[in-house]
Amino acid sequence: MGFILAAAGSAVGLGNVWRFPYVTGENGGGAFLLIYLGIVFSIGVSVLIAELIIGRSTQLDPAGAFRKLAGGAWPLVGYMSILTAFVILSFYCVIAGWTVAYMAKSIAGSVLLSDLEQVGSAFDTFITDPLEPVLYTALFVGLTVFVALGGIANGIERAARLLMPALFIILLVLVARSVTLDGAVEGVAFFLQPDFTKVTWGTLLAALGQAFFSLSLGMGAMITYGSYMHRHDDIAGSALAVTVLDALVAVLAGLVILPAVFAFGATPSAGPGLTFITLPSIFAQMPFGSFFAALFFFLLAIAALTSSVALLEVVITYFMDEGEANRTKVAVGAGVATFALAVPASLSLGIMSGFTIGGNVLLDALDYMTSNITLPLGGLLVALFMGWSLKHKGEEEFVDGSALAPALVSAWRFIIRYVAPLAIALILINGLGFI
Ligand code: PFF
Repeated sequence: MGFILAAAGSAVGLGNVWRFPYVTGENGGGAFLLIYLGIVFSIGVSVLIAELIIGRSTQLDPAGAFRKLAGGAWPLVGYMSILTAFVILSFYCVIAGWTVAYMAKSIAGSVLLSDLEQVGSAFDTFITDPLEPVLYTALFVGLTVFVALGGIANGIERAARLLMPALFIILLVLVARSVTLDGAVEGVAFFLQPDFTKVTWGTLLAALGQAFFSLSLGMGAMITYGSYMHRHDDIAGSALAVTVLDALVAVLAGLVILPAVFAFGATPSAGPGLTFITLPSIFAQMPFGSFFAALFFFLLAIAALTSSVALLEVVITYFMDEGEANRTKVAVGAGVATFALAVPASLSLGIMSGFTIGGNVLLDALDYMTSNITLPLGGLLVALFMGWSLKHKGEEEFVDGSALAPALVSAWRFIIRYVAPLAIALILINGLGFI
């Protein structure tokens, strides 16, 4: 149970509440949701199991795990993971900073406006400011380092156990409020009614990237978590529980945001600001709105913190296992480096918006490169490694501790060896426009 909650703490975060609704909105709604769930419960859960096996059987960090199991060029997968974790952490802290800022602003009452235009322009003013969001980012990076350092990881985990159910309950209340807004039906239909005419390779790539981002896959986090599992812990059961919880939170968040988008006349494809411009308007339409808003953004910030700590832990574990044994030095150094990349990421929405990579400002480019390229690539390599390099060694490890029907083990083997590598490779190649 402790392991499931910790891994769920890493999985559930901004990916579910901030990223999932806006990516769904950009990719046409219902069909995206179905494809997303299809990927999550086939490739996603299978790669999650593979990562846990790699971690549990070696009890090592990602690079060390690959080196111990196979050597050759495989540890490179570990290095790519660590770099990816670092890059994700940098822009993750920017968005998490927004969450903290919105908690403060909800208490002050300054953002809870029922007029969407006004909420939108307040949001724009905030994120384009050269100073305010950077200060909140600094605060959040500091918090992450503090938790990782202070040995209070246990404390935050215990707190999260109480607070995550609370986040879940608030989401349920918000769903009830959102779907009963005037005009929300259209949004519910947008989210739940698939329209496959809108599906392109780009849609598939976005769903794949979102699945990996949300389940914390393809970058070593779950290998690291697996390394803390005990020999006979049930890998398949834990993986499934984490996957179900994570998908459930994402679907609930979608049911909060998307109906409200339509009710308030916003555009579903508005991008990364979608959650932040719709939520305040929903709260403005609730009794005790600013209380609920502050509570919600607080809980979301905690969910983000359990994820950012996991990301930082990947970096810390690597440097400590590679010989630099001083945890304080490593954590502070990683924190400073994270902030150094987070600052331009934040400024890219304002004074640095002229600088673009492939048509994207820096924050979007970092998000795109990790979610749509390095995470799926990491997942692909993990599947190849498990299916073709470890083979039966991995399977023995998998079956140890679980009472799985042989048919399920075969299904997993089939997905890991054939379905996952082929599907991910096809989607990556076509989605990135190589064909
Ligand atoms: N899964 C987290 C989320 O959905 O917010 C993001 C994340 C956390 C990715 C930790 C990777 C990771 F190691």
